[in-house]
Amino acid sequence: MQQKIDFLIIGSGIAGLSYALKVANHGKVLVITKANRDETNTKYAQGGIAAVTYAPDSIEKHIADTLDAGDGICDEKIVRMVITEGIERIEELILWGTDFDKNEEGTFDLAREGGHSENRILHHKDRTGAEIERTLLEQINKHPNIELHTHLFALDLITQHHLGQEVSRSSGGIECYGVYALNLKTNKVETIQSKITLVATGGAGQLYRTTTNPKIATGDGVAMVYRAKGTVRDMEFIQFHPTGLYHPTESPCFLISEAVRGAGAILRTKDGEEFMQHYDDRASLAPRDIVARAIDNEIKKSGAEFVFLDCTMIDKTHFETHFPTILKKCLRMGIDPMKDFIPVAPAAHYLCGGISVDENGCSDIKNVYAAGECARTGLHGGNRLASNSLLEALVFSHRAYRHGVSAFTEINFKDNIPDWNAEGTSAPKEMILITENRRELQSLMTNYVGIVRNNTRLKRALDRLRIIYGETEALYERTIVSPALCELRNMINLSYLVVKAAMARTENRGLHYNSDLVDSNSKK
Ligand code: FAD
Ligand code: SIN
Repeated sequence: MQQKIDFLIIGSGIAGLSYALKVANHGKVLVITKANRDETNTKYAQGGIAAVTYAPDSIEKHIADTLDAGDGICDEKIVRMVITEGIERIEELILWGTDFDKNEEGTFDLAREGGHSENRILHHKDRTGAEIERTLLEQINKHPNIELHTHLFALDLITQHHLGQEVSRSSGGIECYGVYALNLKTNKVETIQSKITLVATGGAGQLYRTTTNPKIATGDGVAMVYRAKGTVRDMEFIQFHPTGLYHPTESPCFLISEAVRGAGAILRTKDGEEFMQHYDDRASLAPRDIVARAIDNEIKKSGAEFVFLDCTMIDKTHFETHFPTILKKCLRMGIDPMKDFIPVAPAAHYLCGGISVDENGCSDIKNVYAAGECARTGLHGGNRLASNSLLEALVFSHRAYRHGVSAFTEINFKDNIPDWNAEGTSAPKEMILITENRRELQSLMTNYVGIVRNNTRLKRALDRLRIIYGETEALYERTIVSPALCELRNMINLSYLVVKAAMARTENRGLHYNSDLVDSNSKK
């Protein structure tokens, strides 16, 4: 079955949905997602969205904080653009119906997070992402030009390669005509032709054993673009959130928002000692790379598997009204944050690198745009400032929309796109190799490519990845496609990109810390 659509959007998080609502006034839109419509990283966002609202905050201060967190390698032009334009994008979100908390004076109740010099985080209790996702889906449901298909798994971008023409990474000139997508309800691969494709597939926390990201976060869009020979950058910068709730058997890991530290909570060793002042003047509210590395160090020194977050100084009513979800979760685990310390440990959280895009979200594959966590825009540099990602997604989706609607009328559908080639494949005899290899990959990324890396471990990771890659590719060649197998392939592609980028970086920057390198900056 072949379908033709003006705008194809892969992903139903903030990036995909906010884009869909805009391009839908110009053409037919199809949003596809491999899971339920709201199963996204977006839904789990807690802390909120960073933006300048009132004095004494200013755009210049937000820019300075973003540049500082990014450790000197952000693209300053992009930082200025996102922070300036983001304010209008948030107003749009509010017009669509997002309810950000206000205080008794009727102004926004602004929270603080690590690396921010002012209170500037707009939020909806500790469920900001769920509120945004709800709003966007409500708007999508009302729009006559948008179809949203769930359980449709994008496999690969269709390019000249599928027309029998070989293209190389260096030759450029690669064009995209749509995607092949596996319908998980019929088990058939569909050919979806599109004039414009937005890749909005989110992050890749699932590369690691402990992550705050839901199961969908396997980096599919980045892998698809890489296989189609598009450029992917900055993959060594994997952000670990300092305070995942310690629970060795729960996956994904529940997040204890950084806004809790913004409200006054402090980190303590397992013996109850404060330690962050030894690492940074901003103590528990330093940027994430610094805090996560400090916790990692304390954990290694003590042999414990966690440190503590002490929230006992926070006013009870404040905690109950601002962090109801966190409170409920802790109480269910027998921890009363008003009396007990919460055990926390770092968890893989955010992919700073990804599909390389310009200021309009254009990748270097013609007709392919990327926005949200899968895109590498230059905003985050070596380390994302907390709550800048929802903002980035809105700004880049908007810019991609503006660029795309003026380009798409010139694009024609092709009439010789072949259907998916399943020749020589048969049903898998056993799934165990796939599940074992996924687990092994998560272990090796956790053990060898975590917060602190070294040359031996990176080499070990690469050697092991090559074995898993060989086995999985052989299986892929002879097996009918399945989501589990395709996710594994994508995760292998991404892990390879992370390891190679980590090996190539010759200085410690932001989230990349290799103990064999001489420090080029003051951050430990
Ligand atoms: P997502 O929201 O992850 O959406 C990705 C979509 O792509 C999903 O619909 C998925 O099903 C679909 N998809 C993926 N692969 C395929 C495929 N092969 N075929 C079809 N569909 C596919 N950021 C902030 O700014 N502030 C916060 O407070 C904050 N808190 C966070 C808390 C948690 C626990 C987590 C996990 C993240 C948090 N983040 C926060 C980060 C932020 O939520 C994400 O970066 C952002 O929501 C990503 O949005 P997105 O639209 O790019 O992707
Ligand atoms: C949090 O609430 O701590 C997450 C914020 C973010 O990832 O930006």
